[in-house]
Amino acid sequence: MERIKTGISGLDDMLQGGLPKNKHVALYGGPGCGKSSFGFEFLYRGALQGENGMYVTLEETAEDMVENMKNTFSQLTDIDSLMKAKKLLVVKPDKLNLEETAEMIEGGISDHKVKRVVIDSATMVRLSFEGSLEYRQTLFEFFSLLRGLDCTVMMTIEASSPRKEQVVFDIEHFVMDGIINLYSLEQGDRRIRALEIFKMRGTDHSRELVPFKVTPAGIKIYVGEKVF
Ligand SMILES: Nc1ncnc2c1ncn2[C@@H]1O[C@H](COP(=O)(O)OP(=O)(O)O)[C@@H](O)[C@H]1O
Ligand SMILES: [Mg+2]
Repeated sequence: MERIKTGISGLDDMLQGGLPKNKHVALYGGPGCGKSSFGFEFLYRGALQGENGMYVTLEETAEDMVENMKNTFSQLTDIDSLMKAKKLLVVKPDKLNLEETAEMIEGGISDHKVKRVVIDSATMVRLSFEGSLEYRQTLFEFFSLLRGLDCTVMMTIEASSPRKEQVVFDIEHFVMDGIINLYSLEQGDRRIRALEIFKMRGTDHSRELVPFKVTPAGIKIYVGEKVF
């Protein structure tokens, strides 16, 4: 099985070398848990390694998204140059639907050799459906289409709570090859960020809950350290 190095510090070790290539991974977590930052760094590291990336933002505008990421990752100094060279694309579809998202991804693959895609977030798409049945079917069709394309996809999913105990498994989980859960855990009067690889089809992986930090130089996952 081919793997791709995410380039996120610690994550490739947890994945025995990297993500299985061309799979679809959910990044699941409550608001502020770090999903967007995580997805963005995955694309940034890929673009530096010659795997171009497309960030499809369905929430913020592309400009706001880039601005936020530059503030968060102030030491990732190649954001502008990678964007200028079209190795890192940030786009927002006019309509919040998966058909248009799929078209943008196909365009990115054919015009800019995109190999990594982040869709942020599934929750925005879900809100545009009245019933969950129709959403489930559309999501299923969307990922079936993506399966035929040469790209590895991360999709963020907003959990209603950052607490670990309250995670419930949603429709999205059934159609994804992998699930990475991000948490913000209360520990006394502090909050600690933690991550677990909950599922990853096609590879063995760490099952530990490990602490991580969002730093200006990128996400740092402290593999081998305990949360409590
Ligand atoms: N430079 C930074 N250093 C540490 N934490 C940061 C920095 N910039 C942003 N953050 C944290 O990252 C969080 C935002 O993460 P984000 O990726 O937008 O989360 P999500 O997409 O899950 O809502 C904020 O809650 C903030 O606490
Ligand atoms: Mg976000």
